[in-house]
Amino acid sequence: MLPLGHALAVAVVQIFIFSENRALAKNINFYNVRPPLDPTPFPNSFKCFTCENAGDNYNCNRWAEDKWCPQNTQYCLTVHHFTSHGRSTSITKKCASRSECHFVGCHHSRDSEHTECRSCCEGMICNVELPTNHTNAVFAVMHAQRTSGSSAHTLYLPALAWVFMLPLM
Ligand SMILES: *[C@@H]1O[C@H](CO)[C@@H](O)[C@H](O)[C@H]1NC(C)=O
Repeated sequence: MLPLGHALAVAVVQIFIFSENRALAKNINFYNVRPPLDPTPFPNSFKCFTCENAGDNYNCNRWAEDKWCPQNTQYCLTVHHFTSHGRSTSITKKCASRSECHFVGCHHSRDSEHTECRSCCEGMICNVELPTNHTNAVFAVMHAQRTSGSSAHTLYLPALAWVFMLPLM
């Protein structure tokens, strides 16, 4: 291959990668949020959306801290407080142990003005949505989630490797 051909191939691949990144940055779909490819601290490590007393779900997810859950946790917990009109008053999301996920579901507080719903889920940043009723305030264990999350990287990595290999060819 000519040097020009090499440069062209590199440029094409890089444009492809950059446009993918830009598409991610423009409209945030919290379901598509992928953690960076930093080394996992231990096997089966995961992350959760994490916030304390956020006013709404967007601000909870948007500013969530990006760090690995501690090793004594296995799930992501969401605690959602809302009024009888359905307006959220407090959202807390965090990494949780099995015992913290023992109580999921919804209950009205004594004054009946507010409802608290708690849900737990398993998998990389799985606690996207808020629990609002008995249908979604559940303990959701989904073993397939982790493998589907990694499939994007298996496509992406060979392309990246190719870019670095090209100058050596
Ligand atoms: C529970 O909430 C979800 C999302 O707001 C809604 O789609 C669903 O119909 C609700 N289910 C019940 C039983 O109210």
